[in-house]
Amino acid sequence: TLSTPQSGLTTEQQQQISAAAQILCAGGTVAFPTETVYGLGADVTNPSAIHKIYRIKQRPADHPLIVHIGAIAQLHHWAQAIPESAWKLAQHFWPGPLTVILQRNRRIPDCVTGGQDTVGLRMPAHPIALALLQALGPEKALAAPSANRFGRISPTTAAHVQQELGPEVDMILDGGACAVGLESTIISFHDDLPQLLRPGGIALSALETVLEGPVLLPHNGQQTIRTSGSLPAHYAPATPLRIYPAEQLWQRAVALAEQDLRILVITWSHNAQSWPALSQSIEQFAMPSDPVAYGQQLYARLRQFDRAAFDYLLVEAPPDHPGWLAVTDRLQRASYH
Ligand code: TXA
Ligand code: MG
Repeated sequence: TLSTPQSGLTTEQQQQISAAAQILCAGGTVAFPTETVYGLGADVTNPSAIHKIYRIKQRPADHPLIVHIGAIAQLHHWAQAIPESAWKLAQHFWPGPLTVILQRNRRIPDCVTGGQDTVGLRMPAHPIALALLQALGPEKALAAPSANRFGRISPTTAAHVQQELGPEVDMILDGGACAVGLESTIISFHDDLPQLLRPGGIALSALETVLEGPVLLPHNGQQTIRTSGSLPAHYAPATPLRIYPAEQLWQRAVALAEQDLRILVITWSHNAQSWPALSQSIEQFAMPSDPVAYGQQLYARLRQFDRAAFDYLLVEAPPDHPGWLAVTDRLQRASYH
């Protein structure tokens, strides 16, 4: 039986959440909002439902999914040998944009983890996601990758999901635009050493403050744990994207425009904004100069720019500052064509 969803939602939303829970219990797929990006969810304990996610996303079977839970205490239900630092982080940041990689127990099927003995878990901070998890009950959880085709830009509105996966998903819950706009921060605890696997919605400095110690940065290239987000090409728009320091941007843009190509220059600094338009085939778009606001908009803007049929997106390199880690990471992967 399905329990009553949380308050704070309209009656219509509550009815949709109940319908979504029934679809999930019957082995279907439901796209749902989280504070980071929209997820494509299925019952974690139902391998045939999990396989639907891989099929819809066209995602290779060895790329593990994040498991979404409705309460911190549910960590016990899916993971074992949970280190103290993982509890600390969960208590401090959940619900919120943080995923912890832990040793899984036998309730997690192989297909969720791509055969690995670890599982990624997070408690999302979105009323609809939490109400959906509550409706499923404490013995269930939602395996959910971002609701986009493998390698493409993650969706930050229900319309993005509709456009990209619409007919293939059993239901899409609309929770408006995602507040964070970039995926969760992923952290692992191999040998009790906290390590950042993917920068995201929680800043590195915030993690280090709570842990009262350093967090290892991702060591690129020689990662032993598979993360699809750690492939070089990911989160990519269809239009080729290149990153240049501010002082090279316009020169590059002009060189491409001379080849009759349509260029969009995407800046964030005030310097860049005062530069003159040198050619009719060069347009400029000013992104926020604050990394959180930049991250919030990034995916929706990339989708918008893709529709505008530019030949190249030239992006002003973000500042070399820890607060920009997540934005820089996504731009670098988006540029890896
Ligand atoms: O914000 C988010 O995390 C969103 C929302 C929907 O929660 N989800 C998301 O899922 O970004 P996805 O599947 O697009 O990315 C999950 C990342 C992948 O890079 C995956 O490889 C990694 O998490 N991951 C999952 N389980 C893992 C594990 N056991 N070990 C290492 N990495 C893991
Ligand atoms: Mg993804």
